[in-house]
Amino acid sequence: QVADSLYIINNFAQQFFVEKLFETEEGKNIALSYLHERGFNNGIIEKFGIGYSPDIRDAFSKLAIKHQYNSELLLRSGLVRSYNDELQDNYRGRIIFPIHNNSGKIIGFGARIIGKNDKAPKYINSPENEIYVKSKILYGSYFARHSIDKNNECLLVEGYTDVVSLVQAGVENVVASGGTSLTVEQLRLIKKYTDNLTIIYDGDSAGVKAALRGLDMALEESLNVRLVLIPDNEDPDSYVKKIGASAFQQFVAENKKDFILFQLEIMLKDAGSDISRKNEVVNRIADSLSKISKAEDFTKQQEYIKQCAALLKIDEAGLTTLVNKYK
Ligand code: CTP
Ligand code: MN
Ligand code: MN
Ligand code: MN
Ligand code: MN
Repeated sequence: QVADSLYIINNFAQQFFVEKLFETEEGKNIALSYLHERGFNNGIIEKFGIGYSPDIRDAFSKLAIKHQYNSELLLRSGLVRSYNDELQDNYRGRIIFPIHNNSGKIIGFGARIIGKNDKAPKYINSPENEIYVKSKILYGSYFARHSIDKNNECLLVEGYTDVVSLVQAGVENVVASGGTSLTVEQLRLIKKYTDNLTIIYDGDSAGVKAALRGLDMALEESLNVRLVLIPDNEDPDSYVKKIGASAFQQFVAENKKDFILFQLEIMLKDAGSDISRKNEVVNRIADSLSKISKAEDFTKQQEYIKQCAALLKIDEAGLTTLVNKYK
């Protein structure tokens, strides 16, 4: 009941934001021109339903009240807030990215400030409610799912604009995590369409560490995880715009690294020649490898043990024994 009402409110808001982007002078001059300057074309803006929230205190609130939407529900949606007993808009002067669930319904919004402004957060996102549960969704999955299925691979990026840019460049099997750690629900969402997850993050991003934390979970879910690091100071959006669609695809294909081996290399580098720290690395990797435990993954686990033992310069049979102790 509440859920259905929230979908209706979000739909109403969505139409409002799209109209403001394309059909008002403020929207066209400030927001649409900003999107165009960043290289987004009208086709992709419309596909993702991107809109604009005017820089006015209560433009949406007033309209919603006029249409007799329930205040409690409006507050619950996160579109408005209460101030001195009046409703005010939560998103003002921002680019609006609607967030769809897998059936195409709008469950929430991400709202980006236009240009640079150190005083306000770059993005404001919907609060969690009956329909928006951040840990269970991946931005873009509604548009990506057929392509993920067809390519038997899901690309994971950090941000809204990364998804939109890649789809515009013809790379459609892409979803975004919002830069946070992957959850088991998100991994299962991917697993419904493919076993192959390719994470594309910038090398210095906190996102890589966040993704590393999800590795054991991904292994337990039988996903094959690979990683592509985008050069420093770029993200997939800026990089695909810089080098072009086909060079970007070539870059991804050539720089894809197996995530387990990548993690091992990082840990080994950190440990240096310290024997007790190397011992710790061996245990951690054995623990990770023990998560590859489904019967159908036997050969995969063997192959990883072989390659990890070689990198670690330790005995393969010994590593196998250790892995089995962690089970
Ligand atoms: N994010 C957020 N809140 C913030 C900053 C970031 O929710 N204050 C999430 C958004 O989903 C964002 C993603 O983290 O898309 C990645 O953040 P960032 O790389 O800073 O933004 P970009 O997606 O690159 O956005 P833009 O290209 O417009 O700067
Ligand atoms: Mn970043
Ligand atoms: Mn960077
Ligand atoms: Mn960016
Ligand atoms: Mn980014």
